[in-house]
Amino acid sequence: MAERGSPLPSHRGTDPMPMQPWFPDAKLGIFLHYGIYAVDGVPESWAFYHGQVPHEQYMRQLDEFTASAYDPRAWAELFARVGARYTVLTARHHDGVALWDTEHGDLNVVRHTPAGRDLVAGYAEALREHGLKVGLYYSHSDWNHPDYASVVHPDAPNEDVATNPLVAPKDGIEDPEAWARYVAYRDGQVGELVARFRPDLLWFDGEWERSEEQWGMRRLAEQILAGNPDTVLNARMLSYGDYATPEQGVPLLPPDGPWELCLTVNDSWGYQHGDHNQKSVRQLVRYFTETIGMGGNLLLAVGPREDGTIPAEQVERLEGLGDWIARHSEAVYGTIAGLPAGHHYGPSTLSADRRTLHLVCFDPPRESVSLRGLRTPVKRVRVVGTGTELGHRTVGGLGEVPGVLWIDAPEGADVDERATVLAVELDGELDLYRGTGRD
Ligand code: GLC
Repeated sequence: MAERGSPLPSHRGTDPMPMQPWFPDAKLGIFLHYGIYAVDGVPESWAFYHGQVPHEQYMRQLDEFTASAYDPRAWAELFARVGARYTVLTARHHDGVALWDTEHGDLNVVRHTPAGRDLVAGYAEALREHGLKVGLYYSHSDWNHPDYASVVHPDAPNEDVATNPLVAPKDGIEDPEAWARYVAYRDGQVGELVARFRPDLLWFDGEWERSEEQWGMRRLAEQILAGNPDTVLNARMLSYGDYATPEQGVPLLPPDGPWELCLTVNDSWGYQHGDHNQKSVRQLVRYFTETIGMGGNLLLAVGPREDGTIPAEQVERLEGLGDWIARHSEAVYGTIAGLPAGHHYGPSTLSADRRTLHLVCFDPPRESVSLRGLRTPVKRVRVVGTGTELGHRTVGGLGEVPGVLWIDAPEGADVDERATVLAVELDGELDLYRGTGRD
């Protein structure tokens, strides 16, 4: 996670951990890429950026975006039921099509699609009714805005950013006034989101196309926090982000500070007719436990169809994961990152009081489960979800090097077909041996 730039004139300017406590304990969020791209089922915004479909054809999807079965209450009910604590909806992606009736710029689904109404207000309301935190995704970049391709990144991260006519001026000649208009437009839209919907979380994207200074990040952060000082900001606010956002792959080491893995259930962020490559529930349980075991949240992405319904095969995956979470909730909520690699062959979480370890076993354990390097004596080991107690003993150890804790393998109904969790109740706070053994 980036260090904040110079201190902001908010309570967070002096706070070394500028994070709302709900966020690190949320564990599961749902990411919704909902927009006109669902009509033809093409990659959100990128389809015209990469020339996969002509721009005109991409924009014709406006005519068929109906949101005819849009029911944010049904979304909220589903997400709450599967154990999510927050969701993030694409209020505006890189294609510039806003899902609310914005006064800044003309491109939105209210004025230009058969949907003909604001899709953000009902979403925010429904989530709050179900006790979920409200997240809104917003792209700094807008490849449809006439003033956008007006300045050049001083240190472009790739060739495309330097040369794509949707991003950079064709002739290389900058137009600072056009850019100032663009930034005012973006600030105006973000201001509306904060004032109208009071999001708990603003999930920015598209930051790579300009420098922090060009984006005026500090001013934008100040504006957001003046509107609502409790807004959580992701790292794509650059220095002003509160948490890191690795994407599509569990990191091998936990990022510093709070973080969130965003991951698609199939291979697409938005709805794509031909993409049936859904991850299995078992795989999702792995991603989820590997993430929370390193202290992160999983922001799991589903792509609603243009009518607003979520494909059944994705609903099933969410329900499968939710079912596993419900059975193992003590190993999920109210926990922090578990053991570093090497102690147990699988992820683990630790209760907030550091007195109970939860060991996740993906495959049915045979004979025994081992735990190495544990210094704290063990009071009891039981299977999470069934409560069955398991025999255990510590074998070996010499001097400061603790022996191995052998736990009898659970059997029969105590083995969960997705992942079994063993709660190791400690007689004191977790104390680990991390050394190299006797010389
Ligand atoms: C990438 C993609 C974007 C998607 C985002 C979600 O940045 O470009 O389409 O919205 O990932 O993290």
